[in-house]
Amino acid sequence: MMNDFISIKTCSNDELSELLALSSDLKKIYKGGKRDVCLAGKTLAMVFEKSSLRTRISFQVAMTDLGGNGIYLKPSDIGIIGKREPAKDMARVFSRYVDGIMARTFSHETIIELARFADVPVINALSDWSHPCQAMADLLTIQEHRGDLKGLKVAYIGDGNNVARSLAFACAKFGMKLAIASPANYELDEESISTANDICADTVVQLSNAEQAVKDAAAVYTDTWISMGQEDEKQQRIADFEGFQVNSELMSKAPADALVLHCLPAYRGLEITDEVTESKNSVIFDQAENRLHFQRALLKHLMS
Ligand code: CP
Ligand code: NVA
Repeated sequence: MMNDFISIKTCSNDELSELLALSSDLKKIYKGGKRDVCLAGKTLAMVFEKSSLRTRISFQVAMTDLGGNGIYLKPSDIGIIGKREPAKDMARVFSRYVDGIMARTFSHETIIELARFADVPVINALSDWSHPCQAMADLLTIQEHRGDLKGLKVAYIGDGNNVARSLAFACAKFGMKLAIASPANYELDEESISTANDICADTVVQLSNAEQAVKDAAAVYTDTWISMGQEDEKQQRIADFEGFQVNSELMSKAPADALVLHCLPAYRGLEITDEVTESKNSVIFDQAENRLHFQRALLKHLMS
């Protein structure tokens, strides 16, 4: 059984399937007005180097739902991990106080370092390299709307970033297909594509044409062109991503019932239009809700 949740690529297929099933089970229990207080008396430290709405609230609510407690350390409390004190010291101090650590960091190495030195489970709540909790909530959402995930094709339009990378690994683990369309120099890196395709052959294909990517797609996914920490590149990125907006014209090239996903926050008018965000195909707010349902399952799995 996993001790930490750092990257989807190192999780077993069985454990990921169990987590999706547990997410659905707990969702039903909570929607039915019942509770599962398996984390009574337990505390999660929630450490953020970056801003957050969904991750911060959904983890805190999930801990409360499970009978436990979450302590939020905002970016101005801790700054960059390692600056005031080394990650390896923080990990050992946290381990004396709390039963789990979740961290949102710039450097992925920081999360690995926390996990190396912590005696309690460590959860990756987004690093510059990956966003595994997001990808699992995404697949839960697609499964709810489309049933069996195996063989389904997702089109990801835009930046080959942390969200795209975790989605690639998740699609590989569940036997799905992922067509990524990005402008030159913003593709998902070769190593991540190879890793996904080693997990399951022919999962990921990197394209340069968005219309080609959305053809036959069960879901069309996008994320911001300007991730946290890239604000200085904003004008250059807006210029470079021209032609990669998820808009009605692009959606007209996808199957009529293709779902629309976005991890949020969305910058309407840039990577996605208001019209598509609000369209009947959009499951963006189901996706945001499912962050809570997946994370409840993850916390129960790791900490109870
Ligand atoms: N999708 C997501 O992680 O949102 P936040 O940055 O608001 O947590
Ligand atoms: N790629 C985005 C995801 C935000 C949830 C970022 O890293 O800022």
